[in-house]
Amino acid sequence: MKGLILSGGKGTRLRPLTFTQAKQLVPVANKPVLFYGIEALVEAGIRDIGIIVGDTKNEIMEAVGDGQRWGVDVRITYIDQPEPLGLAHAVLISEGFLGEEPFVMYLGDNILKSGIHSLVKEFEERRPNALILLTEVPNPQMFGVAELRDGKVVRLVEKPKQPASNLALVGVYMFDHHVFEAVKAIKPSWRDELEITDAIQYLVDHGYAVQPHLVSGWWKDTGKIEDILEANRLILEGISSRVEGEVDEASRVNGQVIIEKGAAVRSSIIRGPAIIGAETEIVDSYIGPFTSIQKKCRIVKTEIEHSIILEGSEIVDIGSRIDDSLIGREVRIFKCPPKPQVYRFMVGDKSEIGLK
Ligand code: DAU
Repeated sequence: MKGLILSGGKGTRLRPLTFTQAKQLVPVANKPVLFYGIEALVEAGIRDIGIIVGDTKNEIMEAVGDGQRWGVDVRITYIDQPEPLGLAHAVLISEGFLGEEPFVMYLGDNILKSGIHSLVKEFEERRPNALILLTEVPNPQMFGVAELRDGKVVRLVEKPKQPASNLALVGVYMFDHHVFEAVKAIKPSWRDELEITDAIQYLVDHGYAVQPHLVSGWWKDTGKIEDILEANRLILEGISSRVEGEVDEASRVNGQVIIEKGAAVRSSIIRGPAIIGAETEIVDSYIGPFTSIQKKCRIVKTEIEHSIILEGSEIVDIGSRIDDSLIGREVRIFKCPPKPQVYRFMVGDKSEIGLK
């Protein structure tokens, strides 16, 4: 079985971060979201993985490389998608890579807690033409939605205004080669994309076996900031402590905390679960639960909780606690002199700042 990871697209819902970074490379617990997908495929025994890339091809290639870090026999093939013309379009242009082999299609911004090992096994044993994953959500209009009758898939609609069920399509699908017949037959939707939901509907309508599978563990589509913070929380909940950096006598570290190599914690409290990245310095600060701080940051006289701070950022002497925040790379947040009493901003396009 082969793997196809979709890592193109525009990431408009994550601006301003995605002005300068691919959305699939935003870190969750200090690891790019995309790596969770690659690991899930490798764990399921898949070695031949195609990655769909668009405008952010270079940085994706730089981060992922040839795949060897996941095993000497892992091969990554990059597939160019000049325009993000839809998930089914990504399948269409991958026919050369996939050939006649069945494959797992994995959306590069999705994280599925339980992995996909048992699902791949189920697909290989039962051999339906497609296997789709579904999960109940409170906001089905944000997803592809499936309607089942007597346990069988009858209808799929992409982001319906009036959803027929609360069963969202999770961004992991398994197909055999009949999907190419479907993606060639369907027409672009109102948003000018070839929708994977339409391709699966084609399979249903033409008598192919489309098997639904309800996901029991958590699943996150990290398309929006709240979802990234939530994914960060869920991943951190499962970490085990590892201290490779320095913690001085005046500091306290409680709960599950990872302190990476070269990091230094001085006169501070770290309350896990949390990760402090390599070569990051935490001084006179409080780092609370569900916080991931990437490498080479400097946090001084500051309190942070339930947040993600990307590499190279510096936060110094902030009066109140930073909470529920996602702070990009090489950002500086600091206290202004007491007079005049002003705020000073140099903020990029589409940024968000919340003041009390
Ligand atoms: O996350 C689950 C949902 O993912 C499903 O419920 C929906 O049915 C499915 O359409 C999809 O919806 P999204 O709106 O979240 O898709 P998004 O545009 O975010 O794209 C998902 C991934 O695929 C993302 O990593 C970008 C990549 N992509 C997207 C498009 C449209 C491509 O590589 N090429 C594309 O043309």
